[in-house]
Amino acid sequence: MHTAELIDFKALVAEAKDILAGNWTGKFTKPAPNLYPHQWNWDAGFIAIGYSHYYMDRAESELRSLFSGQWDNGMVPQIIFNPEFDYNYFPSSDFWETWRSFSAPENKKTSGITMPPVHGFVLQHIYDNAKDKMRALNFVKEMFPKILKMHHYFYNHRDPFNEGLVYIRHPWESGTDNSPTWDAPMERITFDKIKIPPYKRKDLDNGHAEHRPTDYDYNRYIHLIDIYRKCDYNEEAILERCPFVIQDPLFNCILVKSNQALIELATLIDEDVEQLTKWNELSIKSMNEKLWNPKTGIYDAYDLHNDERIEMQASSGLIPVYAHIPNAEQAQQIVDRLLSKSFSGSADQNTYLCPSYNPTSPKFNPKKYWRGPVWINMNWMLHHGLKHYGFTDLAEQLKQESLELINHYGFYEYFDPIKDVVGKEKQGYGSHRFSWSAALCIDFLQDEEDD
Ligand code: GLC
Repeated sequence: MHTAELIDFKALVAEAKDILAGNWTGKFTKPAPNLYPHQWNWDAGFIAIGYSHYYMDRAESELRSLFSGQWDNGMVPQIIFNPEFDYNYFPSSDFWETWRSFSAPENKKTSGITMPPVHGFVLQHIYDNAKDKMRALNFVKEMFPKILKMHHYFYNHRDPFNEGLVYIRHPWESGTDNSPTWDAPMERITFDKIKIPPYKRKDLDNGHAEHRPTDYDYNRYIHLIDIYRKCDYNEEAILERCPFVIQDPLFNCILVKSNQALIELATLIDEDVEQLTKWNELSIKSMNEKLWNPKTGIYDAYDLHNDERIEMQASSGLIPVYAHIPNAEQAQQIVDRLLSKSFSGSADQNTYLCPSYNPTSPKFNPKKYWRGPVWINMNWMLHHGLKHYGFTDLAEQLKQESLELINHYGFYEYFDPIKDVVGKEKQGYGSHRFSWSAALCIDFLQDEEDD
């Protein structure tokens, strides 16, 4: 592994820009050249942050394109389909049958679930990085109401007990698709195999089965989609029938971070902040009262369907530092947890920060997607959160290790966190030339480039 000093920052930024240019479709940027041919919700946000440093037109296009698929009820879908490649991906747009919903747009094909709402804080990055502030202000004016409408959707349709904690109803909504956090609720899903609609996976054409979710997972993913179709995408009906209804700390942290960004942006454009402030205070309170686990120093998830806590072993439970949700004492506990064997490894199992799952757990798998590998977007959020609390060295380490992994292995989708495996040539998995790894690398390196 190269040391940090040997990284050629300029070359890395140039390659990152080349990757984004290669994945650009004319209206938005694909997450990856082949594996993901459509526009994905939170990817678009991270990608826009990268562009905001050097190509504002494209940063704006990312959000415009994504929100062109916003549903009437405010939901912003997980996928906006690219008609050119519709059938290269499963589930394709037809499979979702979103025409059953009164809210789905008629002129855009989308999936019928959402993703972590990064767009509020993305808009703030766009504004902050803009050189032409007048133009940026107009863009804030354009996007603010749309993003706010999405927050209304979450608090009105995904928070049945008015706790300020919104739920996800599909593992894909979490962004951390096959995290072991979802194993227990997924295992409880029983269904008649004969009755799930027939389907053929396409992801395995472009990715190693060993690194991808299993067929067992996929059957359950599809079963959940079938429930939404049968409920005509009516949220109240789905809530009654859906066996997967979970409050995820990552998702809620991102919502809080975006609430805060909208509150700050609102002052620029004279928008009212009362509702946003109320939501936000309630969310933070409930995160700390309901999801915080003082014994383990991490935020847990909560399974609303079974009315029980899911003890968190995934890095998602550390991310609330990003939205400044913990107090100083809790933040210290989070750092202790991050530095303990359960994330940073022990002498004989030394890991790059930050594994997406506790490396000492029997469920940990260093190669399999969200069951252990390092992901650049998670490191980026942790880096910013830790910096805020004054954990400067650790924040820097997260950034350096992210850059080292990218520099040495390439702009992969995810990386093997186990260090020092003799003879291991490859630590980057999933898709190569992955857009958010490129975009966030640009953001990480911005300071260095300016020097
Ligand atoms: C996978 C990831 C998800 C990402 C998508 C597109 O489904 O789990 O977080 O948004 O790929 O990159």
